[in-house]
Amino acid sequence: MQINDTVAIVTGGASGLGEGAVEHFIAHGGRVAIFDLNAGKGEALAEKHKGKAIFAKVNVSDEASVTAGIAATKEAFGAVHVLVNCAGIPGKIGRIVSKKGPMPLDDFRKVIDINLIGTFNVGRLAAAEMLKNEPLETGERGVIINISSLAGIEGQMGQICYAASKAGVIGMMLPMVRDLSQFGVRVLTVAPGLFETPMGAGAPPEVKDMLIATLEFPRRMGQPSEFAALVGHLVENAYMNGELIRIDAGTRAPPR
Ligand SMILES: NC(=O)c1ccc[n+]([C@@H]2O[C@H](COP(=O)([O-])OP(=O)(O)OC[C@H]3O[C@@H](n4cnc5c(N)ncnc54)[C@H](O)[C@@H]3O)[C@@H](O)[C@H]2O)c1
Repeated sequence: MQINDTVAIVTGGASGLGEGAVEHFIAHGGRVAIFDLNAGKGEALAEKHKGKAIFAKVNVSDEASVTAGIAATKEAFGAVHVLVNCAGIPGKIGRIVSKKGPMPLDDFRKVIDINLIGTFNVGRLAAAEMLKNEPLETGERGVIINISSLAGIEGQMGQICYAASKAGVIGMMLPMVRDLSQFGVRVLTVAPGLFETPMGAGAPPEVKDMLIATLEFPRRMGQPSEFAALVGHLVENAYMNGELIRIDAGTRAPPR
């Protein structure tokens, strides 16, 4: 599917990796609906690309909110071809049991609610819209790209909430592929390592330095544009389906 003339929803599109994807799609002739809770940043980005982007204040975990965002996307651009599920939070860092006792259940629930349930929620509602598209010559009706993390594969000490949410994102991929293949909808998962975004740069300096030291090459944080170039390729390469792709400078995360 060529990005040119397609309509993409990018959740978490107001910041970081999502913002990188928004810029990439617009630069390659696409139109984008930015779904995010951060109205200030989201509206400014949509205004920068007026006519090619809209902002919808959407909470990815909330059915009514996502439904309204999709309706706004269809009103502005007529269809949904691509979904990039970037919205996410790092959640609380902490061990399952610490000196304070067992980790509060709500800390775990909150991350699962946004990172895992939010990804599923937007995925199911956007997929229903993709099924309404006339198939392209390639047979494609849509592409869904979910964002996991290295933590979903090699979760480190203290990352139990985030790692579980991101492993769940990986686990939902194959059933999604198998459910949606007959309709010409592809599903892929990207697992970024350490990227220079408000979330990635927000890690404590000692954690960041430790993670940078684990990189093979290049030994620096990734740029949102590098993530976006991969996402763009996955949209445009019709033979890519059901793959988990790491983009991590060769990192293998140590236990702590
Ligand atoms: N930056 C990294 O190093 C890194 C590494 C691995 C995975 N990731 C993942 O990539 C994705 C993007 O991360 P980022 O670094 O760009 O973070 P970021 O904080 O820059 O952007 C995340 C965006 O998601 C939005 N968001 C949060 N909760 C939301 C909700 N309930 N509904 C709608 N929007 C919501 C935020 O407002 C924000 O704009 C996340 O899922 C993150 O877990 C990031």
